[in-house]
Amino acid sequence: MIVITGASDGIGLELARLYKKDGKEVINISRRESEAAEVNILKDLRTGAAIIEAAQLIKDLPDRIEAIINCIGVFSSEEFGKITEEEIKRLMSSNVKAPMLLISELIDRIKKDGADVLNVVSKAGTAGSTSSPVYAASKWAERGFTLSLQEALKGTPCRVISFCPGGIQTGLFEKAEASVDTNAWMKPESIALFIKQILELPKNMEVSEVIINRKTG
Ligand SMILES: NC(=O)c1ccc[n+]([C@@H]2O[C@H](COP(=O)([O-])OP(=O)(O)OC[C@H]3O[C@@H](n4cnc5c(N)ncnc54)[C@H](OP(=O)(O)O)[C@@H]3O)[C@@H](O)[C@H]2O)c1
Repeated sequence: MIVITGASDGIGLELARLYKKDGKEVINISRRESEAAEVNILKDLRTGAAIIEAAQLIKDLPDRIEAIINCIGVFSSEEFGKITEEEIKRLMSSNVKAPMLLISELIDRIKKDGADVLNVVSKAGTAGSTSSPVYAASKWAERGFTLSLQEALKGTPCRVISFCPGGIQTGLFEKAEASVDTNAWMKPESIALFIKQILELPKNMEVSEVIINRKTG
């Protein structure tokens, strides 16, 4: 089975559709249902208790976990001078705490199953940002924990991928009331296809980190 956080929308939903088409069992964890998932674990992953409950429900499932793909994420665009504690809490809990604690809770099962972990980070986790510094900080943190996980799973069959794309045409920005024109950006279905291809490479090939840019010219 393939476990996806955030398969109700955007990149996660496109991935769930691709895996469903392949006959794979998709387990979604998000607040809303995913039409493409066989099992929907409906949780708001901002709280530790909900993350631990979700992890327990995954542990109770008997099938082998092939991969865990973390697509959960939220955006914000407060500039310096306008940053609020609420936004810091919202972004750090959704973008960092949720994937980090979930993976930690599942680490024994990940090792037992030889599962791969792919975290959808962002190009924002590779550079500074004046327009969305809280988002960038959360993505640097997510990328940092991904690289630590890579170290922790060395010597096991589990591959860990830090996936850092640039802008994609999803509702991420609209939900944050950020006025961004995403029309010319990459399509979530192309990104989902690429993620699936990376995970289908032979098990002795680990794409440890990938940065994907939108080609403008
Ligand atoms: N779009 C881009 O340009 C872009 C670029 C680089 C990286 N990324 C990253 O890609 C990932 C996917 O983003 P997307 O663009 O596909 O955004 P999206 O369409 O808004 O999807 C985000 C997903 O995260 C889930 N989610 C958000 N908060 C949650 C919570 N508290 N508890 C449980 N689930 C939660 C949502 O499900 P519910 O609302 O149902 O809970 C939804 O399924 C994110 O990590 C984002 O930072 C996006």
